[in-house]
Amino acid sequence: MDALDLLLNRRSIAKLSHPAPCGDVLNNILAAGLRAPDHGGLTPWRFVVAEGEGQQKLADILVSAAQSADAEQAVIDKLAKAPFRAPMVITVIAKTKPHPKVPEFEQYLSAACAVQAMQMAAVAQGFQGFWRSGTWMFDSHVERAFGLQEQDKIVGFLYLGTAQCQAAPTPQRDLDKFVEYL
Ligand SMILES: Cc1cc2nc3c(=O)[nH]c(=O)nc-3n(C[C@H](O)[C@H](O)[C@H](O)COP(=O)(O)O)c2cc1C
Repeated sequence: MDALDLLLNRRSIAKLSHPAPCGDVLNNILAAGLRAPDHGGLTPWRFVVAEGEGQQKLADILVSAAQSADAEQAVIDKLAKAPFRAPMVITVIAKTKPHPKVPEFEQYLSAACAVQAMQMAAVAQGFQGFWRSGTWMFDSHVERAFGLQEQDKIVGFLYLGTAQCQAAPTPQRDLDKFVEYL
């Protein structure tokens, strides 16, 4: 796939089913994440791949967090199903390190770039993805389950799989509304 075409026309697709990326294709996706811009070479990323049983473990973590927070049953039921919206979910964590010149904020940005890079690498290889978040991503119970330290953050859940529908047309955006030149 042409790189510019990918950059200009990528869409997120929420309706995803089997197959999930695997083997070299999955490794390419993860390796693309490891090519995220990285100030100071801190490599502030961790990717937790969940498929099958792993998705059940992710569901259990979310459900347990919601139960601890006395969430309504409807919320709990929704969370129990959430990780199965695609055949694979990669939880992307910004694993930060104290640094005199690279604040945590930059390390979070780097992890966010990793999500985008992985989504692009999936699309480039014929798969599709959707970046999701939600309030439970910031829940201390969920953070503990993923072994996060105080300054670490989950920056997203990247759902990956095979598209079950056509992508919506790419929005046409007017450069003049977003860009100015000094
Ligand atoms: C940090 C982050 C978190 C997001 N979380 C959600 C989410 O929880 N649910 C959702 O519907 N879209 C979420 N999105 C937006 C979608 O991933 C997607 O970008 C959006 O639907 C626009 O589609 P497009 O990527 O095809 O332009 C999130 C995007 C970002 C950058």
